[in-house]
Amino acid sequence: MTARAVTARELVSAADSRLAAAGVEGSRFDAELLLAEVLGVSRPALIAALGEDVSAANAVRFEDFVARRAAREPLAYITGVKGFRGVELAVDERVLIPRPETELLVAVVKTGRPCGILEVATGSGAVALALAHELPDATIVATDVSKEALEVARANAARLGLDRNVNFVESDLLGGIDGAFDAVAANLPYVCSGEIDGLQPEIGYEPRAALDGGEDGLDLVRELARQARERGVLKPGGLIALEIGDDQGPATVGILERAGFTGAEIHTDLAGRDRVVSATKPR
Ligand SMILES: C[S@@+](CC[C@H](N)C(=O)[O-])C[C@H]1O[C@@H](n2cnc3c(N)ncnc32)[C@H](O)[C@@H]1O
Repeated sequence: MTARAVTARELVSAADSRLAAAGVEGSRFDAELLLAEVLGVSRPALIAALGEDVSAANAVRFEDFVARRAAREPLAYITGVKGFRGVELAVDERVLIPRPETELLVAVVKTGRPCGILEVATGSGAVALALAHELPDATIVATDVSKEALEVARANAARLGLDRNVNFVESDLLGGIDGAFDAVAANLPYVCSGEIDGLQPEIGYEPRAALDGGEDGLDLVRELARQARERGVLKPGGLIALEIGDDQGPATVGILERAGFTGAEIHTDLAGRDRVVSATKPR
C-alpha cells in the first residue's frame, strides 16, 4: 500500500503550528514562504494551489527547512535571499541580514545626489548596491573589515551587474581609504555589548562583529567620526550619514558636532524611531 499524498495545505498547516510553538512570529507566513521556496514558486502561486499534492522529496526538503526555522534560524539564511530597496541580495551567516529600516540610510544619502560615495561596513553590500542601482552615475567605494562579508558583497555586485559601479575594499574603518567623497554612509555595529545575548534568538545566527558596538554601542561611531575628521575623507559640504539605535540620536549628534561636522539632523524611520543621523563637513 502506498502512503497517501500530502497536500500543500496540510504541510503548511502543520508547519505553522510547529513554528508558532517554537515562538516564531508570523509563523503561517514563514511556513508558506518556505514551502514556496521548496516548490520554486511565488507565495501567491502557492496560496492559489494549496490543494495540490506535494512530492515526498519536496516534503522532506520542506521538513528540513521548517526544522531550521523552528530552531530560530532567520528565514533569510534558509532561503538565502533578502530584498532591499528593489535589489535582491544573497545572504548567509557571513553577513548581517539587511534590515528594512536601513533603507532610510540610502534615502538620506541619495537626497544630495552625490557622485562619489564611501560606504563603510558594507556587509552584504546592501547600502552600496542599492545606491549604485538608484544612482547609476555615482562612483562608490564600499568597505568592510570582514573578508568573508566582502566575498558575499562582491558576489552580490557581480550577480546584479553592479560590479563596475562599486569598488569593494577590505579596511578597518577608514584605515585603507584615500581620497575625498561627497558622502560617507555607515551602518556600523551599534548594539550595546551587554544587550546582544538578550535579543531574539535569530540574532544569534548573525556575525557578532556586525552587531557589537561596545559598552554604549557607539565605540565605532566615535572612532569613525574621529577618523573622518583626521583623514579628510569628506569634501567640504559633503554629507556623513550614520544609522543608529533608536536611543542613540542625541549622543550621535554630539559625537559628530565634536568632530567638527555641522547641521546635524536626526531622521526617523517608518515606525517613527530615530534611525539615521546626518551632518555636513563645513565648506
Ligand atoms: C550592522 S552590519 C551592516 C551591514 C550592511 N551595511 C547593512 O546595513 O546591512 C556592520 C558591518 O560592519 C562590519 N565591521 C565591524 N567592524 C568594522 C570595522 N572596524 N571596520 C569596518 N567594518 C566593520 C561588520 O563586518 C559588518 O559587516
